[in-house]
Amino acid sequence: MPAGSTGKVTDRQSRMAFLQANTKLLVSKLVPEIKLHLAEESLPIWRKTEEELGEINLPPPFWAFAWAGGLALARYVLDNPSLVAGKRVLDLGSGSGLVAIAAKRAGAAEVLAADVDLFASAAVLINAEANAVSLRVTEDDILDTTPSDIDVLLVGDLFYERDLTERVVSFMERTAATGAPVLVGDPRRSYFPAERFINLARYDVPTTRELEDQEIKRAAVWRWKG
Ligand SMILES: C[S@@+](CC[C@H](N)C(=O)[O-])C[C@H]1O[C@@H](n2cnc3c(N)ncnc32)[C@H](O)[C@@H]1O
Repeated sequence: MPAGSTGKVTDRQSRMAFLQANTKLLVSKLVPEIKLHLAEESLPIWRKTEEELGEINLPPPFWAFAWAGGLALARYVLDNPSLVAGKRVLDLGSGSGLVAIAAKRAGAAEVLAADVDLFASAAVLINAEANAVSLRVTEDDILDTTPSDIDVLLVGDLFYERDLTERVVSFMERTAATGAPVLVGDPRRSYFPAERFINLARYDVPTTRELEDQEIKRAAVWRWKG
């Protein structure tokens, strides 16, 4: 906790102020409807967050970028609003909040953005404000729960680690068993279990060499089949 912080609310507010000061409002060509406070390079903002917290070995600043899977899913949701309109949506691994904002823009009744990174929840809130939508956030790790109060699960780019993938797949199995559709945006990251999904759409997503070692990343939107 930064020196001078007195509690959780103050702490989140200071993270929101930090992000406002250290990011730029940027727009992806694939999803021009949504503005996000993002970084252009990862190392400087990573270093600054470590300095801010007085900690080292923080997780990478995923929240400072719009990932190819999330961009593909956001585009799909905006183009197919009936998937979420009037529904309660959970955006798992929300990062910047891109997918959550797309769902709300597409007419979702309520959107909960879940991310365990405390900077991500701050990013979601400043990005929601920049796009004039209201979202709820949680910093709890909900992967071992069964969601009982959602109608649709959206997940952008969350298959990049083996252990995390196992937990996400179990969460998807339990969510699908409640009857809620599960939609994923993913560029076939290392642990993406393609055999559990049906492909719905493909996108050429503009990205950067720094993030993906290429300027266009092919990503797709998938529906859980079980
Ligand atoms: C690659 S980023 C994707 C962010 C966003 N969905 C997008 O596509 O731009 C993955 C995010 O998942 C979050 N994450 C990792 N483990 C998680 C967990 N157990 N529960 C919720 N979020 C988690 C990370 O903090 C990170 O923000």
